[in-house]
Amino acid sequence: MSADVAEGLPQSRLLRTAVPGPRSVELARRRAATVSAGVSSALPVYVARAGGGVLEDVDGNRFVDLGAGIAVTSVGASAPSVVAAVAAQAADFTHTCFMIGPYEEYVAVCEALARLTPGAHEKRSVLVGSGAEAVENAVKVARRATGRDAVLVLDHAYHGRTNLTMAMTAKAMPYKTGFGPFAGEVYRVPTSYPLRDPAGMTGEEAAARAIGVAQRQVGADRVAALVVEPVLGEGGFVVPAPGFLPALSRWCTQNGIVLVADEVQTGFARTGAMFACDHEGVVPDLVTTAKGIAGGLPLAGVTGRADLMDAVHPGGLGGTFGGNPVACAAALAAIAMYEDDDLAAAARAIEARVVPRLRALDAPGVAEVRGRGAMLAVELVRPGGMEPDGAAAARVARACAAEGVLVLTCGTWGNVVRLLPPLVIGHDLLDDGLDVLGRALLAG
Ligand SMILES: Cc1ncc(COP(=O)(O)O)c(C=O)c1O
Repeated sequence: MSADVAEGLPQSRLLRTAVPGPRSVELARRRAATVSAGVSSALPVYVARAGGGVLEDVDGNRFVDLGAGIAVTSVGASAPSVVAAVAAQAADFTHTCFMIGPYEEYVAVCEALARLTPGAHEKRSVLVGSGAEAVENAVKVARRATGRDAVLVLDHAYHGRTNLTMAMTAKAMPYKTGFGPFAGEVYRVPTSYPLRDPAGMTGEEAAARAIGVAQRQVGADRVAALVVEPVLGEGGFVVPAPGFLPALSRWCTQNGIVLVADEVQTGFARTGAMFACDHEGVVPDLVTTAKGIAGGLPLAGVTGRADLMDAVHPGGLGGTFGGNPVACAAALAAIAMYEDDDLAAAARAIEARVVPRLRALDAPGVAEVRGRGAMLAVELVRPGGMEPDGAAAARVARACAAEGVLVLTCGTWGNVVRLLPPLVIGHDLLDDGLDVLGRALLAG
């Protein structure tokens, strides 16, 4: 484990009360009277402290954190260097608005993004506040730079909850149902889903299938951008067949289409490389980042080819809070941890520890254990076929929570249990979490 994890928070699981305990029950009562029912939470407990691989609730129960705030707190939720950077920056100034009074921290984050994102070409960035906002801005840049309207997205994609990104997201419930009408000129094409594609379909064949649909339904010359998650996130942690992304990338280049890699969930060492595109040597034109970038502070970015990013007229990009200085200071500290502590190697070590154990379980209903680095998943189906079993995934997540382990679910059918531990999690703690998960999977 990195030395740079929360001090004073024991890195072990502990259940002092029932889950939820009395203080959490009282908070749930206050919540029901004030918080919109439209906001849901995976855990029934309320968090008091978090760090390393542990969440401690208000009743003193300690949970093994295999969710990292949905792939955000990769460096831990209270990494001392991030905490110190936040405190120092807040003491200097909390906000000026980069569009009013610019500051060095914003520039330094853009320098880091240019250095770390795939490709050695000249790059520019804009910083915003959330992943959805980053995706919106990538589309704005692509449309402005190409003068075209259409946006291609993949089946099972998730890109956010704003109006445009809802249109780009595949799954209706809970993300879209009742929230339309949605932004136009968004077209969905099939992705590569090796478990569910015809047996033996290669990445190149899956790409040809997607390109065929795009050409028939839209025509390449109308397409501003193809937006892809290099590993599907909310859609089920699906790793495309090798060759899929490179083939799409070649088609984009040949047709003047901006390839946007949405690395909001996969970025910053999560998949065992700094960016998921690195696994296949794909160099996207634009990359969106958020989540893990700033150790838990809200920050996001679009980084890409200077000629595209600079095609936008001055004032066309921005936002009041975009690139907030406290978030930028946190990002610089978190990025130093990714690089100095080689957290991509830590993610690969997590994969090496988790995948063989889950595969060896041979639990009923497990169709596939898959993923990359510390972005790992178990897809559950009804025994004897391939029918997705969302109820089983929900049962497994509930059983884990009752035992003090946080796992999340995802997938178009809600039938995927996903693991996104902080990359600094200790291996003993991870093993303890896996024991609990294993029992829950075997119970079905
Ligand atoms: C791939 C991807 N893009 C975009 C988003 C939206 O990010 P945010 O929730 O920060 O708006 C997410 C969030 O889960 C995501 O996984």
